[in-house]
Amino acid sequence: MKNLIDRLERGEPLSRPDFISLLGGYRDPELAGCLAAKALAVRERHFGRDVFLRGLIEFTNHCRHDCFYCGLRRGNRHVERYRLTLPEIAARCDLGHSLGFRTFVLQGGEDPFFTADRLAEIVAALRGRFPDCALTLSVGEQPRETYQRLFDAGADRFLLRHETADADHYARLHPPAQTLAERFRCLYDLKEIGFQVGAGFMVGSPHQTAGHLAQDLLFLRELQPHMVGVGPFIPHPETPLAGFPPGDPDLTLFILGLIRLMLPKVLLPATTALGTLVPEARERALSFGANVLMPNLSPLDVREKYEIYTGKIHQGEEAAEGLARLQTRLAALGFRTPRSRGDYPG
Ligand code: 5AD
Repeated sequence: MKNLIDRLERGEPLSRPDFISLLGGYRDPELAGCLAAKALAVRERHFGRDVFLRGLIEFTNHCRHDCFYCGLRRGNRHVERYRLTLPEIAARCDLGHSLGFRTFVLQGGEDPFFTADRLAEIVAALRGRFPDCALTLSVGEQPRETYQRLFDAGADRFLLRHETADADHYARLHPPAQTLAERFRCLYDLKEIGFQVGAGFMVGSPHQTAGHLAQDLLFLRELQPHMVGVGPFIPHPETPLAGFPPGDPDLTLFILGLIRLMLPKVLLPATTALGTLVPEARERALSFGANVLMPNLSPLDVREKYEIYTGKIHQGEEAAEGLARLQTRLAALGFRTPRSRGDYPG
């Protein structure tokens, strides 16, 4: 198995059976240690000791979709829905900018109120106000023309996890109106338009097999995204998948390491879901090659309402207000948090 890790590090393409057998070894401490050491070295080669910070603004929790895993699904009547206005969003960016953030991530459900016009207006306003910042959008599946308008208005990056690269598995996580083909269409459109694109998936989502995870890794190799978001599944009580167990944090870390080796320059967050499940796991993610953290910059009174999964953390070092403490701790671990956009290295 070490041999497979060596081959991945050398940039050789692994097959689906290769990935399945590698994934089977995630509980072996020696193998995991070997992977972490290599992932760390690769991260260091391309990024030194830099960890990039992104200010996350959750600007709407309305959603037209009904994903079986997500607490913000349309069918969940127990959510108090909210939307932020442009002045409210801009005020959070002002605060974030003064704290040192140079990337803002605007994330929301697929909210029909935010038409292409309204989204483009927000992007253009923030682009004008923060010329030294990167703007990342995470607003789901949109027509190609909308993506193009948002890019032309000044958005730089787009996050859209593929969730699973297997069509049958996708169909067990989403209603029939949502298809993997459409998700892929969006990701390839975004890339062609010129966005820095983030894909990704949940580890331990219901009905997931090692074969599915291997497929996810093969898909990432094909797509060559600039960013990859991977976190454990965490059940939400008001969803059809409430009864399934959470994903395994150790498997999540192992997969982060594999992704770092396979896509050496990728921007790889230590996700909030991982930190929610195991508090120390976000730091451990940095030792498996992660190099991005996304503290919560949403207004305090809406954070509880953006509950994608149970117990989502949004305070302390997970929050923009806790930034100084986070930076101190990262410095103690030997990491730098530069005040830069932290773009994909060219
Ligand atoms: N557990 C973990 N992650 C989840 N997401 C949605 N619901 C859950 C859940 N229950 C992730 C999805 C989505 C991202 C915004 O959050 O991967 O793309």
